[in-house]
Amino acid sequence: MSVPLSDASGSNQSHADQLKTQSVVLAPMEGVINASMREFLTGMGGYDRCVTEFVRVTNVLLPERVFYRLCPELKQGGVTASGVPVFVQLLGSHPAAIADNAARAESLGALGVDLNFGCPAKTVNSSMGGSILLRDPKIVGAIVSSVRRTLSSRMPLTVKIRLGYDNADQLPDIVDAVRSAGADELAIHARTKFDGYKPPAFWHEVSNVMQPTDSSPTRINGEIWSVADAKKACAQSGCSTVMLGRGALAAPDLARRIVAGDETEEAMPWESLLPFIGHQFERYDSSNPRYVGNRTKQWLAYLKRTYPEALELFSRIRTLHDPVLIAKELSYVGEVQPSTGSTKRLPSASNLTESSDMSRKVRASLGSQVSAQRR
Ligand SMILES: Cc1cc2nc3c(=O)[nH]c(=O)nc-3n(C[C@H](O)[C@H](O)[C@H](O)COP(=O)(O)O)c2cc1C
Repeated sequence: MSVPLSDASGSNQSHADQLKTQSVVLAPMEGVINASMREFLTGMGGYDRCVTEFVRVTNVLLPERVFYRLCPELKQGGVTASGVPVFVQLLGSHPAAIADNAARAESLGALGVDLNFGCPAKTVNSSMGGSILLRDPKIVGAIVSSVRRTLSSRMPLTVKIRLGYDNADQLPDIVDAVRSAGADELAIHARTKFDGYKPPAFWHEVSNVMQPTDSSPTRINGEIWSVADAKKACAQSGCSTVMLGRGALAAPDLARRIVAGDETEEAMPWESLLPFIGHQFERYDSSNPRYVGNRTKQWLAYLKRTYPEALELFSRIRTLHDPVLIAKELSYVGEVQPSTGSTKRLPSASNLTESSDMSRKVRASLGSQVSAQRR
């Protein structure tokens, strides 16, 4: 993989400056962005959509409880507390089984299905799931088209890939297979499986597969930590929409600032964030004696990229395992609202700001759910 030429990929600064990112999606992150984190981050504003951790599919139809465990939002109309749609992500290599499970997700009320072709984990790849499938664009196409045929036509189907397995040579074939199989949107993590998560992300490689009249919009992902990064990623890739993973954890209000487009706006103050860290700890990270505090420590490790205070707090709780002592360090006093919006918004089609065909599908499906609830 070649290092991107610093500004040789269509990214002259004035273009980047003018670019306004139209939509931000919260990336799936297994073991990290669970329902509680989705609730918190989407409550910060700026997100059009989020995605569950992956549901691993072998060759069977999974029981409903698996879907509810990974996507408890299915019990509240498929949206987070702030009304942001949650898509259910599936990972596997068996076209018919993935299609059956996608249909189950739809029948349980999911507002969309996302397919994972990016996971680099050895255990997943060794059972032919995730990024290893990128070596064979035909199987990728077969899976996407099997799912597309099985879902109803109004159900959005999105796909997440990397640039390739060990290099980006097959990217045009992979993208072609995904688009012609009828995906509504494609997110590209601009690194190969071999690149793992090491910086940089090769945003410019995505420009090779951008077409002026894309039927399925393409979203850029990877190494976006700031408003300036989002603009650069869009300028270099030719995309106008982004997906945020670790950047969302490092700066919880980043999506809102990206949509506002002002590079000079500072991240929310640490003092405003601290009660949310305490709240997340208290509700979701303080009860399992073996793992108490682990998620909070992991989150602080991301937050320290934006906040020096996070590093200091991390070192104070690093060796603690007693929930009372950790809560004390977090200065958690209880009763914090889980979202910045003071009132819970009801699922509403008007919360969606995307203009693509896919978001029209989400709107339509939200609309029919809302009217079904009224009936
Ligand atoms: C801990 C961790 C877990 C992840 N889990 C998933 C997953 O379940 N599904 C998926 O498609 N991608 C997963 N990813 C990849 C992210 O969605 C994203 O593509 C990647 O982190 C690059 O974006 P970023 O630089 O904004 O973090 C994971 C990444 C990390 C670091």
